[in-house]
Parts: sequence; C-alpha cells; structure tokens
Amino acid sequence: MNQTIEALHWRYAVKKFSTRTIPQEKLEILLEALRLTPSSLGLQAWKFILVNNPEIRRQLVPATWNQAQVMDASHLLVLARSERVTPDDVSRWSALNATTRQLDAQKQERFFQMISNYLKGISIEEQGIWLDKQLYIALGNLLTVCALEGIDACPIEGFKRTEYDRILGLESLGLKSVVVCPIGYRADDDSHQFLPKVRFPMSEVVMTI
Ligand SMILES: Cc1cc2nc3c(=O)[nH]c(=O)nc-3n(C[C@H](O)[C@H](O)[C@H](O)COP(=O)(O)O)c2cc1C
Repeated sequence: MNQTIEALHWRYAVKKFSTRTIPQEKLEILLEALRLTPSSLGLQAWKFILVNNPEIRRQLVPATWNQAQVMDASHLLVLARSERVTPDDVSRWSALNATTRQLDAQKQERFFQMISNYLKGISIEEQGIWLDKQLYIALGNLLTVCALEGIDACPIEGFKRTEYDRILGLESLGLKSVVVCPIGYRADDDSHQFLPKVRFPMSEVVMTI
C-alpha cells in the first residue's frame, strides 16, 4: 500500500494514551507543520498553544466532558484564533509580506487595502466563523503530519470553549479556543485501535462531473 495511505489507515482518534513522551525533535516537526499551515489571505490569525502545565491540564478535563486524553497524552495542543482581525494585524501582516517578498510601498498598500476591504465587507459574526475555519485547516494538517510521523492524536471538539478561554486566560490575550488536540502514543489496551475504519465507499464520496 502507498505509505501515505497506510499512515492514514494507521491513525485513529485515540481514546487512551500511553505515558510515552514525544521526543523534542518530533514535537518541533509538528509545530513547524502547524506554522506552515496555509490560511485565507495568508493572515495566520491564530495561536497554537502547547499546554504543558499539568495542573492546568487537570483543570481542563471537566471542561472537556471528562475526556482524559487532554490530561494523559504526551502533549496537549489547543488551537486558538484571534478574537478579531484588527487594522494593526493587517498592517503587521502586510509589512511582513512586503519585506519577505521585497514589495514596493505601492504593492504593499494594495494588499493592505484588499484585505481591509474584505474584512469591512463581513460582520463580526461572519469574521468569527471565517477565523474558526482556519483552525480546522491547521487541525487537518496536524493530523496528517502526525500520522506520517507515527504520532497519535485525538481531535477534540467536545469541550466548553468559554471554560477553556477562562482557564487558559485567553480573553486577555484577544484569543478564542477553537479545537483541541492531545498528541502522543496510543496505549496498548486502547481497544479503538483495533476497530475497522468506518468510511463510505469511494463511489459515494467522490463525484466526477
Ligand atoms: C473536528 C473533530 C472533532 C472531534 N471531536 C472528538 C471528541 O471530542 N472526542 C473524541 O473522542 N473524538 C472526537 N473526534 C474523533 C472522531 O469521532 C473520529 O475522527 C471519527 O469518528 C473518525 O474516526 P477515526 O478518526 O478514528 O478514523 C473528532 C474528530 C474531528 C475531526
């Protein structure tokens, strides 16, 4: 079987993690993969939060419907977004874009205006939904890279966002939690690893026009 497909069959949403720790060099690969995630307009209005403090992780368990993975996995990642994109954020991005790609002031201004106009055209609620979506792209990227690197993960949407924001002190940082992902290694006795994948056949999920 193709190695990528094999890795995607190998991965599953882990319910029980072992006590094994992800080595630093592997962790850095995962964080770099997150950093390289593409985002709409390239804005990167996000923060990938590594929660290492065991006491904070313990507090997060009841806010995650008692899903013990957030406590037991080697590492815990909370993928958060900016509460909103401010004109300062757009300026910071367009300055980085200009220096990285050596753009002249006129081109930089054009990018700034394009993004500002896009943001002016949507409501704050729409902006929130749009920013949330960006983190799901990061999650997908993380899950795939984890699989390719032989690291286990469990994407978690079943958590109380406002509780997470409070426990992690995100509000004062202008951030909102979107999705959670404990990463590590499956426990030998996690029965879910032996279950076959439940997926509709190719003929049902792919359509050619
Ligand atoms: C966005 C998202 C949120 C999820 N939330 C949870 C969760 O809160 N708890 C959990 O145990 N699994 C969660 N899952 C895992 C899914 O149930 C699982 O990925 C799906 O059933 C497919 O199975 P597999 O990942 O084992 O192949 C989530 C998956 C995704 C993609």
